[in-house]
Amino acid sequence: MTVKRIAVIGAGPSGLAVLRAFGAARKAGKDVPEIVCFEKQSDPGGMWNYTWRTGLDEYGEPVHASMYRFLWSNGPKEGLEFSDYTFEEHFGRPIPSYPPRSVLLDYIVGRIKRDNLQGDMRFNTPVRDVAWDAQADNFLVTAEDLPSGHVYAERFDNVIVASGHFSTPNVPVFSGFDLFPGRILHAHDFRDANEFAGKDILLVGSSYSAEDIASQCYKYGAKSIVFSYRSKPLGFKWPDNFEEHPLLLKVDGNIAHFQDGSTRKVDAIVLCTGYKHHFPFLPDSLRLKTNNRLYPLDLYKGVCWVDNPKMFYLGMQDQYYTFNMFDAQAWFVRDVIMGRLELPSGADMTADTHAWRAREEALEDAYQEIDFQTEYVRDLMQYTDYPPFDLDKVAQLFKEWKHDKVEGIMTFRDRSYRSVLTGTMAPPHHTPWLDALDDSLEAFLTPLEEVRAKAVG
Ligand SMILES: Cc1cc2nc3c(=O)[nH]c(=O)nc-3n(C[C@H](O)[C@H](O)[C@H](O)COP(=O)(O)OP(=O)(O)OC[C@H]3O[C@@H](n4cnc5c(N)ncnc54)[C@H](O)[C@@H]3O)c2cc1C
Ligand SMILES: NC(=O)c1ccc[n+]([C@@H]2O[C@H](COP(=O)([O-])OP(=O)(O)OC[C@H]3O[C@@H](n4cnc5c(N)ncnc54)[C@H](OP(=O)(O)O)[C@@H]3O)[C@@H](O)[C@H]2O)c1
Repeated sequence: MTVKRIAVIGAGPSGLAVLRAFGAARKAGKDVPEIVCFEKQSDPGGMWNYTWRTGLDEYGEPVHASMYRFLWSNGPKEGLEFSDYTFEEHFGRPIPSYPPRSVLLDYIVGRIKRDNLQGDMRFNTPVRDVAWDAQADNFLVTAEDLPSGHVYAERFDNVIVASGHFSTPNVPVFSGFDLFPGRILHAHDFRDANEFAGKDILLVGSSYSAEDIASQCYKYGAKSIVFSYRSKPLGFKWPDNFEEHPLLLKVDGNIAHFQDGSTRKVDAIVLCTGYKHHFPFLPDSLRLKTNNRLYPLDLYKGVCWVDNPKMFYLGMQDQYYTFNMFDAQAWFVRDVIMGRLELPSGADMTADTHAWRAREEALEDAYQEIDFQTEYVRDLMQYTDYPPFDLDKVAQLFKEWKHDKVEGIMTFRDRSYRSVLTGTMAPPHHTPWLDALDDSLEAFLTPLEEVRAKAVG
């Protein structure tokens, strides 16, 4: 019997979830396909890898990373905990609810390394092309080994696209940008808030990047923050040196003009205007086309490419749930590939995606969106043996998180939540987030007693 070959494109949390899903089947004594994971960066972890680089990397490839120094989780870790690998199992003890980037990277990659699930991972190897060969009933995947420049093609029975969708910036232009005397950048290229200490900053956009980059700049000493929103303001109780204005009309020198007629002098502009789903390695017939939303069309159960269900996408939705949702998706895809789950006809798959889309379009607020994504994950999990967890409690936790942000946008990261898997209440962090300037793993994991003892000593 020939063993099936699967190509996974990307070794971020989604791609790694696929390795874990097949690893679990192997552990259970099943024959699993051969998996090759192509990754254009030199390490696993996807977006959670930090680089100082912006623009192009050392090989001339677009830098994937949009994360920056001092980035902390923007939701409680209890909302994303892997149900087959808890934080307590990884760190050997309970840790606070809002870890910095390096701690989450350690957790994501640790789950794979501890069980030796790396398998055939090809780093520094971007996929350049995927072609469906109807006659051979498989895909021809072309990749490049960047260090040697060697371009090669191999055949695969299935392709799983896990290349992320928060990497290619959406960059609108406003009148006067070409003559603006300060720096203009997209959030994708933001790296270090210290650069903006003492400056008046304008952020265009009113979602997570705007909210968090503004908070970072405040934390590291920006003089003032002006948000400019297209649809609605963020509306939090911001510190006194923050303002929210409707959309930017133009800049005239260093003066920003807004739709409400107001003007402000600004030193730098950060476009927090989101990202594009971008798959330059895919032909039109296999390429997902969507904006950032909870239910992109053309993907049955959010993962199977309806027009050719040998092809899959992971993690393409806008996200309340992240790591545990990618797991639920990976387990589902694994079971389709291994023949444990049979897919309905193309027409039925399309009808199913439209039914979900209609539900998505009726959503009125963030609380309903949380319930919607909870139902989506629940739906996926009913088909597989991904270890069940209490989704209602996680949904409740996300709603508490939303509420906590309204209560205190600069203090919500100081809160603690209970793990729905271990039942343990997270300990408080030793330092309030606003004062915690060291975001290293070592600093975060230092026990409270030790920090107190040092302060006294
Ligand atoms: C600034 C920022 C902050 C975030 N903060 C949080 C947070 O606090 N909490 C949270 O849960 N989520 C957060 N997210 C969401 C984050 O994207 C997800 O947590 C997660 O990283 C998505 O995993 P992924 O594997 O789908 O994509 P990614 O993590 O983006 O990984 C995709 C991988 O595919 C690789 N790749 C891309 N193209 C190719 C190619 N052609 N060939 C080979 N490899 C390729 C990339 O190099 C990358 O390693 C944040 C996102 C951003 C942008
Ligand atoms: N850990 C963290 O703290 C952290 C920090 C940053 C980002 N993130 C993550 O990164 C992901 C992406 O977040 P994001 O905020 O970058 O993207 P996003 O959620 O897709 O939001 C994009 C924003 O840009 C605005 N926009 C788009 N085009 C515009 C235009 N032409 N003019 C003006 N405004 C425009 C949108 O306005 P409309 O509302 O009008 O569409 C929206 O406010 C999220 O998953 C988030 O959780 C996490």
